[in-house]
Amino acid sequence: MFYLFMKLVHIFSVFIYGGFLFTDNLFFARIQEKVTQQEYAKMRELFMTFVRKVVPKSLIVAVISGIYLFYENFGVIADEGLNSFQIVLIIKAFFGLWLGLRGILQVFFKINPLVFKSHRFPFLVVIIIIALSQVMHFV
Ligand code: HEM
Repeated sequence: MFYLFMKLVHIFSVFIYGGFLFTDNLFFARIQEKVTQQEYAKMRELFMTFVRKVVPKSLIVAVISGIYLFYENFGVIADEGLNSFQIVLIIKAFFGLWLGLRGILQVFFKINPLVFKSHRFPFLVVIIIIALSQVMHFV
């Protein structure tokens, strides 16, 4: 029951974080083509004001719930080494932890994004993570 609860927490928190990245990259960025630079800067500032209230916290929740799910799912490493599920899960967790670390450093400690500045790269990483999370049980 607790596992199910944590899984739901994980799904909803990644839904909020991923939803923001989808909205920003696919829709909000396109507004830029239709308004002046000053108007866009004002709209972006307002948009980010609301985003900052919710999204960084849900990223932290995603990482914490993800660590719990990882702990419950990973299992023991056999004598032959890691199985395919464990390998894909490690890759998924690495990307998730990296996104989490990057986001937390940026928002709470004002340390600029590790490696990439735009939201396009996290967007791509989230798509990869979602795909990995769906295939890992079947590899
Ligand atoms: C922003 C980062 C993350 C995203 C977008 C994300 C996304 C997802 C999604 C979509 C699922 C599939 C849920 C389902 O199909 O029922 C999932 C499951 C899972 N995630 Fe994450 N995740 C993130 C971070 C993490 C982290 C950091 C870890 C571990 C350290 C992690 C560990 C897991 C595990 C173990 C599962 C499998 C749960 C199960 O099948 O019961 N995730 N994640």
